[in-house]
Amino acid sequence: MGTVASSTDAKEGTPLRLGMSNTDLSEIGNSLVKKLHVMMRVSQIYDANNVTFRRFMHENLETMNTVMEKEEKLSLKMLKGDIFLNDQRLRYSVEGFTSFKYLITQWKKKRIGGVTFKGVLDERMLREFLYAMNSLPDGRNENAANFSERMASHKIHSIEAVPLDEIEDEDSESILQKDDQKAVAKRVFFETVGTIKDVITQIKQKQYPDVRKLKRLVQTAVRLVMQDESMLLGLTTIKNYDEYTFNHSVNVAIYSMAIGRRLGFSKKALTELGITAMLHDLGKLKVPREVLNKPDKLDKAEWDLMKKHPLMGVEVVLNLKQLGEINPRTVIGIFDHHLKTDLSGYPKLFRKKEPSLFGRIIQIADVYDAMTTPRVYRKKPYSSGEALAIMLNDRETAFDPVLLKIFIGLVGIFPVGSLVLLDTKEIAITYKANSDPELLDRPQVIVIHRDGTGEVKKSFVDLSEPGGSGAYKRSIVKTLDPNKYHINIVKYFI
Ligand SMILES: [Fe+2]
Ligand SMILES: [Fe+2]
Repeated sequence: MGTVASSTDAKEGTPLRLGMSNTDLSEIGNSLVKKLHVMMRVSQIYDANNVTFRRFMHENLETMNTVMEKEEKLSLKMLKGDIFLNDQRLRYSVEGFTSFKYLITQWKKKRIGGVTFKGVLDERMLREFLYAMNSLPDGRNENAANFSERMASHKIHSIEAVPLDEIEDEDSESILQKDDQKAVAKRVFFETVGTIKDVITQIKQKQYPDVRKLKRLVQTAVRLVMQDESMLLGLTTIKNYDEYTFNHSVNVAIYSMAIGRRLGFSKKALTELGITAMLHDLGKLKVPREVLNKPDKLDKAEWDLMKKHPLMGVEVVLNLKQLGEINPRTVIGIFDHHLKTDLSGYPKLFRKKEPSLFGRIIQIADVYDAMTTPRVYRKKPYSSGEALAIMLNDRETAFDPVLLKIFIGLVGIFPVGSLVLLDTKEIAITYKANSDPELLDRPQVIVIHRDGTGEVKKSFVDLSEPGGSGAYKRSIVKTLDPNKYHINIVKYFI
């Protein structure tokens, strides 16, 4: 996985600075946040003379003083969930995400909005800074003032903390006012994956899970889906093999919300659907890891246990008091997600009933995501087209045919961003599905070709455009692997 967002593009209107360039500042800021994260953690474990701790302090000092030399001051501020280094917003990378999250969470807990350093720093100053921060109790608004006072008592006047401003506190409304919607979509995606992971871990350890946070993130995701579903849908192509359970939950939620949107669901209903989808496999936390990750076929006892996960999920959800009033649709949706239309799935019912709408939506999203993701027992996943073809075959028995049709329209046989070969020997990238369900294999594409000078030219082409003698002008022959052709697909969407 690469960088979440390019860290190089300077926004228009950014004031000119005499010190470091915005790009340099952004780069050094990212590395500083990572180093700070490690040092803060280490400072909670070791005492001041520990060799490891001192090594990390020196690394930090080096980076911090580099900034100081060029910029004369170093301020790290938190604003609407972002971190700014001397007014430059730092864009985090996938690898840096944990560090960003750590710093933001720690400061928020301690009601600190940022810290300013002026003048060259030495080891003693940095040590006092860390211990003063560590000693602050959670949730006190006077923490920033107390911190600065403590520093002054150690004769350190060049380090100050600013309090967290309530108004600047992150909320889903304000995130969406940001210019970079794509970056927001990515952040919501990764943060949701992290949050669902936390929720599952907390439930396993019998702690109170932070379900409210999950709900807030789903609300933001709903707004994103309503504005432009393609942003979040594009992210479902990140198939993370190691974190399958968490990525899977988020992907299923995105697909489900996109289907719900096409069905005209209200914001409230979409949020309910998103949460239900996010929690659909919660019951699997009661299934041992060896069974979940078994590369071979499950034996009868294991399979029987696996089939209990919808019911166990219901049990877990009913115990999540923080979810507020538990919506019956959530409970039933989780219970129904493996029933299948002809009830040939599981659990077995004593009395026949039709699977609920939530259950039927989630089932489609669930099967598709599972088929298109590599798993321990199937290293090479199905392509989007293969998965949809298999699902279409089962449409009478397993899926709601109308919902399946909507879903196929949504992801298309050639999902947005596929590299394809045309019968004209041209190479193209799909960028928009055909709105006519009969013409799913005829999306709009960007044809890429090089002119005589070797420069890349692109032209937009609609594959439903007729050619002579009733046939089409161009058709897709097959999909190609973008890595083999050294084509950076993302470039064509920014
Ligand atoms: Fe499931
Ligand atoms: Fe699932």
